[in-house]
Amino acid sequence: MSYRIVILTSSPNKDGLTAACGRALREGAAGAGATVDLIDLNSYNVGRCQACGTGYGTCRTEHRCQVEDDFQALNERLIGADAYAVVTPVYWGDLSESAKAFLDRVRRCEATAREASRLASKPCIGVAAAGGSGAGTITCLFSMQQFMNHVRSEVFDLITITRKSRVYKLEAIEAAAKAMVEYMRQKAAQ
Ligand SMILES: Cc1cc2nc3c(=O)[nH]c(=O)nc-3n(C[C@H](O)[C@H](O)[C@H](O)COP(=O)(O)O)c2cc1C
Repeated sequence: MSYRIVILTSSPNKDGLTAACGRALREGAAGAGATVDLIDLNSYNVGRCQACGTGYGTCRTEHRCQVEDDFQALNERLIGADAYAVVTPVYWGDLSESAKAFLDRVRRCEATAREASRLASKPCIGVAAAGGSGAGTITCLFSMQQFMNHVRSEVFDLITITRKSRVYKLEAIEAAAKAMVEYMRQKAAQ
């Protein structure tokens, strides 16, 4: 069986560390036989959640976002995947603005569906790509983990990478994507 993996990257830098992590994930997943859908969130128009009504809109009642932009099409690609990975540059110890805007809206639609979340039990990898100091990678991954837990995904791995650890962590990131696909195959065979 060929699995479909969505890889989300979320940096304005088209050839930076985040992009390199996205390529490593793609090579690992594709090398294990998966079909990869690599999405650069910064190339799309995804606005922030409008906290409709008094805090909730159709996200709570219908599990869809009523703010019309590129979110809907991207979310269809994400929820249609068998597994996913998110790579964000570390900004202020947190997710980038494009990752935050997209994931906030996904969370509202899926977390409110509880066990019917369309991301429930799906394996996922989170990567926090930081600058030289690496300060804030842990808090960034904590935010990532919160998202994954709220939508009931299965965290396969959470990985930090900095400019200093780039060479050996890129290898680890590629290996993690490959291992995730193999894990899915093993699970399906049980
Ligand atoms: C607004 C902003 C905030 C940043 N905050 C942090 C930070 O908290 N910790 C850190 O190690 N690097 C921080 N950085 C550096 C980026 O994480 C680093 O340059 C990363 O490699 C960016 O990914 P890119 O190469 O894909 O652009 C920040 C950069 C920007 C632009």
